[in-house]
Amino acid sequence: MPELRPATLGDLDALVALEHAAFATDRAERRAIRHAIRSATMDVLVALIDGDMLVGAAVLERRKVSRIARLASIAVAPNRGGLGLGGKLLDAAEETARGHGCERLRLEVRADNGAGIRLYERRGYTRFAVRPDYYEDGMEAWRYERRL
Ligand SMILES: CC(C)(COP(=O)(O)OP(=O)(O)OC[C@H]1O[C@@H](n2cnc3c(N)ncnc32)[C@H](O)[C@@H]1OP(=O)(O)O)[C@@H](O)C(=O)NCCC(=O)NCCS
Repeated sequence: MPELRPATLGDLDALVALEHAAFATDRAERRAIRHAIRSATMDVLVALIDGDMLVGAAVLERRKVSRIARLASIAVAPNRGGLGLGGKLLDAAEETARGHGCERLRLEVRADNGAGIRLYERRGYTRFAVRPDYYEDGMEAWRYERRL
């Protein structure tokens, strides 16, 4: 069973490594990850196995003026994919958003990201918009939303 907890600055190196392992483009830079860990309106959740091996992370963004939270990122180490970690991180992100009074969760996913799209659609997310030319390589984003 993975342990899920909020990230600390001590997780920074492992989070940067995960970002490189999980994403081929549009990676968050180290300073952006550090900012997210420190931010009062962002939640970075990490999944650990075997005590201290970081194998997944999710980043949630909130705004004081909105009841709509945004899942800015979710990533699982490639050699740990398909084991349900993505689903557990998504559950935890939703629970965190609910705990802050948010009523909806939105996210963007690459139109060619089969694993991501499957994860979200299985969990009741519906596509409400398409953003052309959204990612660095020109790929479009599919925007999904779920009522919490
Ligand atoms: C998307 C991601 C977080 C899913 O994590 P995961 O731990 O593999 O997720 P789960 O094990 O909970 O599986 C989610 C679903 O995707 C399916 N899946 C996993 N890998 C897949 C793949 N390569 N292609 C298609 N479906 C896949 C699983 O079978 C599962 O579907 P099911 O519930 O119907 O069986 C992970 O693949 C990842 O980190 N990808 C790279 C980063 C990324 O794309 N993040 C999302 C950006 S929005």
